[in-house]
Amino acid sequence: MKPSQLLFGIAAAVGVNAATPPGSSPQVPNSLGLVFDKNIVTPGEMVAQSVADAAQPSLFYTPHLKPGPRGLKKHPLPLPLPKPLDKTYLFTLVDLNLPFFALPPTTDFASLVPGIGKNRTTRLHWFEYNVHASAPFFSLQNQSLPIAEYQGPMPPKGDGFHNYVLYLFEQPEGFDPEEYLAQDYDGDSFARMNFSVKGLEERVGAAPVAANYFLVENENNTRTA
Ligand SMILES: *[C@@H]1O[C@H](CO)[C@@H](O)[C@H](O)[C@H]1NC(C)=O
Ligand SMILES: *[C@@H]1O[C@H](CO)[C@@H](O)[C@H](O)[C@H]1NC(C)=O
Ligand SMILES: *[C@@H]1O[C@H](CO)[C@@H](O)[C@H](O)[C@H]1NC(C)=O
Ligand SMILES: *[C@@H]1O[C@H](CO)[C@@H](O)[C@H](O)[C@H]1NC(C)=O
Repeated sequence: MKPSQLLFGIAAAVGVNAATPPGSSPQVPNSLGLVFDKNIVTPGEMVAQSVADAAQPSLFYTPHLKPGPRGLKKHPLPLPLPKPLDKTYLFTLVDLNLPFFALPPTTDFASLVPGIGKNRTTRLHWFEYNVHASAPFFSLQNQSLPIAEYQGPMPPKGDGFHNYVLYLFEQPEGFDPEEYLAQDYDGDSFARMNFSVKGLEERVGAAPVAANYFLVENENNTRTA
C-alpha cells in the first residue's frame, strides 16, 4: 500500500460513525486513524488478537481531511497536503470490558470505574504523551517515553469481545506525567486496572479531539453461530 492510499483510506474512515462504542462515555464524534500493519481500522471493527498482539498500531490524526457528505470521490483530498497543526497530544488505549472476575475477590468492586456492561470496569493498555502529528502523512509520533507501554489485548478465554478505545487529547500546557508515573503503570499489572478516562478528561480540562476503537476476542474461543 502506498502512503497516499493509506491516507485516503484513513480519511475515508473518518466521520462514518461515532468513533467511540455505544453506551460508553465520553462519546467522541471525530475518528483517529488507526492502522494495524496494513489494516485501516473502521471504528468498531473486529481485529484478530494475534494481529493486535504482534505490534502496536500506527496512529494518524488528520483533522483537515474530512470527506464531504458524499465521500472522497466527490471531495478529493486537497493537494498539496496541508501541514499538520503544531500541537502536542496525549493518548490512551483503554479496554472498557474488563470483567470483575479477572480481579482479586478482595477488590472494592463498588468503587470501580464502570465499563460497558454489568460487572465490568476498565484497563489501561497504552498511554503516551508529548505526541506530535508529523508531515507529510500526519502520523502521530511520541517525543517522550510512554507513560504506559503498549500491551496487546488480553480478553479472557470464554469471555466475549472487548472494546479497546483510543482517546486522543490535546495536551495541556504544563502537563506533568509524574502524577501518572507515580502509579507506575508498567511495574504492577493491577495498576492498569480501573483506569478513569473521565479523570484524565478532568485533568486535561477538555474532551478528546478524536477517538477510534476495535474489538478483540480471545483467540482460543470456539466460534459457534
Ligand atoms: C477506581 O477508580 C476510582 C476513580 O478514579 C476511584 O475512586 C476508586 O477508588 C478506584 N477503585 C479501586 C478499587 O481502585
Ligand atoms: C455481578 O452482578 C451481580 C448482579 O448485579 C451481583 O449480584 C454480583 O455481586 C456482581 N459481582 C461482583 C463480583 O460484583
Ligand atoms: C516512543 O515510544 C517507544 C515505545 O513505543 C519508545 O521505544 C521510544 O523510545 C519513544 N520515543 C522517544 C523519543 O522517547
Ligand atoms: C491459545 O491456546 C494456545 C495453545 O494452548 C496457547 O499457546 C495460547 O497462549 C492461547 N492464547 C491465549 C490468548 O490464551
